[in-house]
Amino acid sequence: MMYSHLFKSLPASSAAFASVLAGAVAASKSERSDANETVVSAGGWSKLTQCHHKSKDVVGMLHDLDERLENIERTLGASSSCSSTAATTSAAPPKNKYHNDSVGKSKTLPGIDVVLGSQWGDEGKGKLVDILSQEYDVCARVAGGSNAGHTIVVEGKKYKFHLLPSGVLNEKATCVLGNGVVIHLPSFLNELDGLKHQGIDAENRILLSDRAHLVFDFHQEVDGISEHRLGRNKIGTTKKGIGPAYASKISRNGIRIGDLENFDFFEMRFRELADYQMRSHPGLEIDVEGQLEYYRSIAKRVTAMTTDTIEYTNEQYDMGKKILIEGANATMLDIDFGTYPYVTSSNPSIGSVLTGLGVSPKKIHGIYGTTKAYCTRVGEGPFPTELEREEPGSIGEHLGVVGAEWGTTTGRARRVGWLDIPQMKYSTLINGFTAVNLTKLDVLTGLEEIKIGRAYKHNGKILNTMPSSLKTMSELEVLYETLPGWTEDISKARNFEDLPVNAQRYVLRVQELLGVPIRWIGCGANRLDMIDRGEGWDLSSEDKE
Ligand code: IMP
Repeated sequence: MMYSHLFKSLPASSAAFASVLAGAVAASKSERSDANETVVSAGGWSKLTQCHHKSKDVVGMLHDLDERLENIERTLGASSSCSSTAATTSAAPPKNKYHNDSVGKSKTLPGIDVVLGSQWGDEGKGKLVDILSQEYDVCARVAGGSNAGHTIVVEGKKYKFHLLPSGVLNEKATCVLGNGVVIHLPSFLNELDGLKHQGIDAENRILLSDRAHLVFDFHQEVDGISEHRLGRNKIGTTKKGIGPAYASKISRNGIRIGDLENFDFFEMRFRELADYQMRSHPGLEIDVEGQLEYYRSIAKRVTAMTTDTIEYTNEQYDMGKKILIEGANATMLDIDFGTYPYVTSSNPSIGSVLTGLGVSPKKIHGIYGTTKAYCTRVGEGPFPTELEREEPGSIGEHLGVVGAEWGTTTGRARRVGWLDIPQMKYSTLINGFTAVNLTKLDVLTGLEEIKIGRAYKHNGKILNTMPSSLKTMSELEVLYETLPGWTEDISKARNFEDLPVNAQRYVLRVQELLGVPIRWIGCGANRLDMIDRGEGWDLSSEDKE
């Protein structure tokens, strides 16, 4: 309980206090009723949601009261000295020691939680986001564009997302595309219309940042032209125009969503940009008049969804709402931290939450790193633990086929390999994961032995971190350790103890090597095939096994 601070930090004006208090309690009430309705409408989607909103006993009521008081504290600004300190504390537990007083208990606190990809993308973030998002009031994307992609199957219906946060499936959530996202409006509207055909009309609860930059068709063409020019050295982009759109942003001749509100200004900027692109790429033809006509036709619809999402998101935070950031792409594709130049053109790591949404780092608490139990990558570039995928009967073929490793956005076969601990440690260092979501453990079922890439060696020396040079990367030797596999079907496991001993060993060994609790474990293809070990358990005691 932290409300003792409340009384010390009351504003001088009691009228102001009364109105703040009323607002906070109202916010807290509406949040609770939303959450209850979510459980009903979601019909058992989320184990987390169910246990969080069980019929109220005394403990539940006290918990409620505590949450409300926390909301009030936040609203009063007392959070700078107490609530947010608590949030910061939960984001940075003492090394290798995690309090264990809430084992198995799921509790989503108000504030911002983030789900990030920690490898080279396609780690299966969507499944966790899908489960978690049922508990959140706001679901946001902060970086990348339609290069991301994931599929969610709900009651036999398949939903494919590229630009929309998958939290859109929670009909109580507002979805935000923050200023860091680059938006190809035709794709965005198509996705929205497709969703409507599937029975989900989300248009009135989607907010687009007025500062988000636009991806135009010609950016996509330029993406293709650039790749073609690079020939054998191509990046292997998704050709969704992401790099060229961010290049326009950085060159300061990009066009932002908010520009559509003043179409004369938009038109002037568009003509200049189109002209610049055609001059820079001989052979590129842009139907300027046709494009302007299209953008004029959709301007009103888009403008209705456009707002200052910085103000919106921070207001929601102040009201004690729960905000979930759905990371796109992944840390090793980060323009700064990834395997440059074989990367995307944004920062899909933790920094993008701040720069792509406009929130303070003090407001973030859960930072959930998603990693496959093995490793994949699409496109070109270094991949130290890569296995041969094409050879019939090989382990690589097993991972590719059993893991259904083909890209959602491009359909390309993903490259596959063993889990890479030095890479994961690097990703953990950058992002400060508070918990790990280990996905697709079931794909390893049936392998006699499982390897873990334990360390990198170069010129006879063990490396302490990820090398930046492509040359060093290509000369790396990976040191592996080998663990015994398992053959039992693990898809029905719902508790850690339900896993075969060798699967438990594998998870615990990965956790020990990373030094971060593995909270979620994906154990099958279906939506609910997941183990949630809950928050806050003692990592050091697990290590002893
Ligand atoms: P771009 O983002 O389309 O420019 O592609 C740059 C690199 O990032 C390519 O290797 C892509 O395959 C990769 N990439 C981009 N987004 C994703 C993703 O969501 N999952 C996996 N790879 C991605």
